[in-house]
Amino acid sequence: MKPTIYVSRKIPNEFFEPYQNDWNVEMWHEETQVVDRDVFLKHVQKADALFTTLTERVDREALDQAKNLKVIANLAVGYDNIDVEYAKEKGIVVTNTPDVLSETTADLTFALLMATARRIVEAEQFIKDGKWTNWAPFLLAGADIHHKTIGIVGMGRIGEAIARRARGFDMKILYHNRSRKEKVEQEIGALYSSFDELITTSDFVVCMTPLTEDTENMFQAEEFKKMKSSAIFINTSRGGVVNEEDLYNALKKKDIQAAGLDVFQNEPIDEHHPLLQLENVTALPHIGSATYETRSKMITLCLHNINQVLKGNKPITPIL
Ligand code: GLV
Ligand code: GLV
Repeated sequence: MKPTIYVSRKIPNEFFEPYQNDWNVEMWHEETQVVDRDVFLKHVQKADALFTTLTERVDREALDQAKNLKVIANLAVGYDNIDVEYAKEKGIVVTNTPDVLSETTADLTFALLMATARRIVEAEQFIKDGKWTNWAPFLLAGADIHHKTIGIVGMGRIGEAIARRARGFDMKILYHNRSRKEKVEQEIGALYSSFDELITTSDFVVCMTPLTEDTENMFQAEEFKKMKSSAIFINTSRGGVVNEEDLYNALKKKDIQAAGLDVFQNEPIDEHHPLLQLENVTALPHIGSATYETRSKMITLCLHNINQVLKGNKPITPIL
């Protein structure tokens, strides 16, 4: 009998062509809508493999349904949506999509940093709203990027790719990470720093750390107060790392200057959310790795991982 693969989001058929003789593929029919929980759980019961996105909670409840499940391939580098420990206990392999998205996500992070510092989105709205009546010395003036200090919290592969971009802008690069990264220090000239020193001295605080029990709410009122009043906070990792109410207050009171956010505690964030009402917030709908090239590579990698495990081979990018 062919193994059953459940794909929790509509993915173009062409990606599955190489496997059409080997797998029985079942798929949620919507591209932009999350699979209904009960539909998802029903499919988990009989699937041999799951292809999931970061919007599916693969928790104990879901994993307890599984009867044949051997592998979960998550279409993301982050995997905070999956109870990885419990999956491991049950002998289910979990894979993610590292590496293939690092440069693309670093590009977006830098684009967001620049857009926030130079008020690109506001400026575009200004011109399209017909407000450009004259040139003025400080019209839409923002903050410099070159020669400033960038502090990267979480020096993984994406952090490293951001640091390389920062070097091109002649920035001073600080980083904080659980472990020292000698290679990044030597090759890119990034300086290891305590979390406290990083947040107090950086002009740009860039959050790249995954969401775990240890990093949840890592950025709260106290951290924002310690930052420079000219600091710009950028988050392209996970919303849960930040206390959004505290961030809102910090931006409102000008404890910090601005924030560029690609991720939020609850996604999709409601358009009426207080953070989105602030002029000094540049917001994006979680598009860090969203290029045609990279999303295609991520999908292909998920399918390779599934294929490896179903064939009894080692997955390419397992978690743990
Ligand atoms: C996206 O947020 C990812 O984790 O890949
Ligand atoms: C501005 O456009 C300048 O020429 O300095």
